[in-house]
Amino acid sequence: MNLKGKVALVTGASRGIGRAIAVALAKKGCHVVINYARDKENAKKTEEMCRAHGVESIIIKADVSKREEVKKMVEKVIHKFGRIDILVNNAGILGKSIDPMKISDEEWDRVLGVNLKGAFIVTQEVLKYMKKGKIVNIASIAGKDGGTVGAHYAASKGGLIALTFNLARHLAPNILVNAVAPGPVATDMINEEMREKLRKLSLTGEIAKPEDIAHAVIFLLENDHITGEVIDVNGGRLMD
Ligand SMILES: NC(=O)c1ccc[n+]([C@@H]2O[C@H](COP(=O)([O-])OP(=O)(O)OC[C@H]3O[C@@H](n4cnc5c(N)ncnc54)[C@H](OP(=O)(O)O)[C@@H]3O)[C@@H](O)[C@H]2O)c1
Repeated sequence: MNLKGKVALVTGASRGIGRAIAVALAKKGCHVVINYARDKENAKKTEEMCRAHGVESIIIKADVSKREEVKKMVEKVIHKFGRIDILVNNAGILGKSIDPMKISDEEWDRVLGVNLKGAFIVTQEVLKYMKKGKIVNIASIAGKDGGTVGAHYAASKGGLIALTFNLARHLAPNILVNAVAPGPVATDMINEEMREKLRKLSLTGEIAKPEDIAHAVIFLLENDHITGEVIDVNGGRLMD
């Protein structure tokens, strides 16, 4: 797919990996819709970074776990651009507990609600309008190996990988659905202490930059013969 002139919705694009994906899409000539949950200031900054590449860009606040907010967001995109060609389900949260016995029902529901149900809700609402296009889900190495994170986070990302496979089967040939599974990435999600520990586990001796993940997303979007694939970007931590 030639990305120039296409319309892309990136969830959770105010910072981190989502911002890098939004900017990479803008560099390719895509018009980019930047979704965020709370951080309007940073979302505006991403918007400016995208517009600097000569494309149209808007920000839309919506909690991806809330159907009504998502519905309104997608309607706004259609009102402004008339179509959606690309969806990147990137919005995600880590959850604070790692000990499985300390994860409350509320925390479980919140993490699964954003990371898994959120991606599904956004996809369903977008599919009302997208007849041909591409979807990329941002999963995690934790969805494959269980990770050193909370059970809720790992389960949400494992679920997102299964959702990717399922949707790839149902939506082909007009809509191709893939995922990227990052290992640790230098964003707000990982503090400096965690980064130091994680660097040692990577064969590259480093943790990924958000741009490394964006690069894999662009590869999947530009290729027209890959669907139901999960690309690992983890410095060789997982070989399966
Ligand atoms: N960093 C890593 O090491 C790593 C590794 C593997 C996978 N991932 C995945 O990569 C994705 C991006 O992570 P990141 O590291 O870039 O995280 P981040 O820096 O913490 O940014 C998270 C983004 O998601 C948005 N968001 C959070 N809850 C939301 C909600 N309910 N509705 C809409 N947007 C919401 C945030 O918006 P606000 O700014 O408005 O709060 C922000 O834009 C996530 O799915 C994460 O699980 C990250």
